[in-house]
Amino acid sequence: MRTIAVINQKGGCGKTTVSINLSAALAAKGNRTLLVDMDPQGHCAVGLAVPEEQIEQSTYDVLIGAGRGEPMRLKEILWQICERFEMAPSNIDLAAFEQQMTGIVDRENCLKKVLAEVQDEYDYVVIDCPPSVGLLTFNALRAASDVMVPVEMGYFSLHGLSRQLETLSAFCEQCEQTINVTVLASMYDIRTKMGREILAELKKHFSERMFKTVVNFNTKLKEAASLGQPVGEYDPTSKGYKDFLALADELIGSDTQMHKAQLVNSLQAKLESIGASADELLADTPSQQPKKQQPIVSLDEKLSDFYGVRQLDGQVVFSTMYPRAQKVQIAGDFNEWDPEKTPLQRLDENGKWQLAMPINKGLYRYRLVVDGQWQQDPYNDWIEMNPYGDFNSVLNVQ
Ligand SMILES: Nc1ncnc2c1ncn2[C@@H]1O[C@H](COP(=O)(O)OP(=O)(O)O)[C@@H](O)[C@H]1O
Ligand SMILES: [Mg+2]
Repeated sequence: MRTIAVINQKGGCGKTTVSINLSAALAAKGNRTLLVDMDPQGHCAVGLAVPEEQIEQSTYDVLIGAGRGEPMRLKEILWQICERFEMAPSNIDLAAFEQQMTGIVDRENCLKKVLAEVQDEYDYVVIDCPPSVGLLTFNALRAASDVMVPVEMGYFSLHGLSRQLETLSAFCEQCEQTINVTVLASMYDIRTKMGREILAELKKHFSERMFKTVVNFNTKLKEAASLGQPVGEYDPTSKGYKDFLALADELIGSDTQMHKAQLVNSLQAKLESIGASADELLADTPSQQPKKQQPIVSLDEKLSDFYGVRQLDGQVVFSTMYPRAQKVQIAGDFNEWDPEKTPLQRLDENGKWQLAMPINKGLYRYRLVVDGQWQQDPYNDWIEMNPYGDFNSVLNVQ
C-alpha cells in the first residue's frame, strides 16, 4: 500500500481536486483506492456528492478512537464512490481534533495506526490535507510514504512553496521517516506568459522532484466538482481526465523510496534558490507591480501589502484569507492565548479577514483559530516549533 498525502499550506491550489481525481484515476486503472479527507472543511464529500447531513461519522471519530486506543472503526465510516474507490469523509467535527488530543501521547500517529489496519486492503491511499500545518497535517505526514505538493501556477505560489518545503524539511529532521516529496504543477494555463514562466522555473529547480505530468486548468474539473463527480465520470473525453490518467500512470511507475538525509538536503538546497527566482520573476513583470510606484524590495514586501502581519500607524495589522470560514480569531502571547478576545473582521466576499490592534514592543508567538481549528498564520514565514510539535507564528513588534 502506498500512501500519498496531498499537502500545501495554501488554500485553493487544487489539493482537493487532485485528491479526488487522482483517486478516481487510480481506481479506474484497477487499483483499490481509499481517499481520506483530513480537512475539516469536508470538501471531498462535497466534490463526490456525499450529502453532508448524512455523514454521521467521519475521520474525526476514527482518529479520536485510535488516539484513545479503541478498536479501529474505519470501515464504518467509508462511502463507496465507484468500483475500487472508497472515501473516508470529514466534517467540521475534525476541527476539534487538535485540541481534543492535547496531552495525548502519540497523537500524531493516529492516522498511521488506522491505515496500518487496512494496509492489505488497498493499493493506494490518498490523503487530502487542510491548508494549515497542525496536528491533522502531521498525522497525514506520519502516515505517508509520499507527499504530493500541488502548486498553482501563480507568482505567489512560488513563495508559498518555499514555506511549504521549509515545513517539510523541519518535519523530516524531527522524525525518523522517509518521505518521497514531489511537486505537481496544477491549474496550468499554457496561454498565459506567467504560467509558462513559472512552470519553467519549477522545472529548473525541481526537475527530478517534480511530476512530468502537469494538471492543466480545465473548467470541466470545476464543473465536475460542482456536480459531485470525478471528472472521468462527468466527461471522460476532457483534458482534465487525461491529465489525471497520466498522473496516475506516472505515480504508479515512479520509485517511492528516497533516503531521508538526501531528501532533506535537496529540499534545503532548493529553498534559497526558489525564493530568489520568485523575486526575479516578480521584478521582471511590470503588470505585477502595485499601482503606486513604490520600489519593490522583495516578494515578502509585496505579499505583505495583502496578507500577513505588519505594523501600521502604531497598530499591528493581521490580514489573512479564508474564503469559506465563518469565524477567524487570533490567540497569542499578547492576549493570554484567548481567541475570543481578538476576532478578525471579514472584509470582503473574497474571504479576506483583518484585525488591527495596538501591541506593546516585544517578541510574541501566536496562532490563528479558524472555525475552532488552531493553525499557524499561513502568510507569516517566521515560525517556531512549539513543544507539542506544532508551529507557532512569531511576531516582533518594534
Ligand atoms: N486544474 C484545474 N482547473 C480548473 N479549476 C480547478 C483546477 N484545480 C482546481 N480548480 C478549482 O479551483 C478551486 C480550488 O481548488 P481545490 O481543489 O478546492 O483547492 P484546495 O483543496 O487546495 O483548497 C475549486 O473551485 C476547483 O474546482
Ligand atoms: Mg481542499
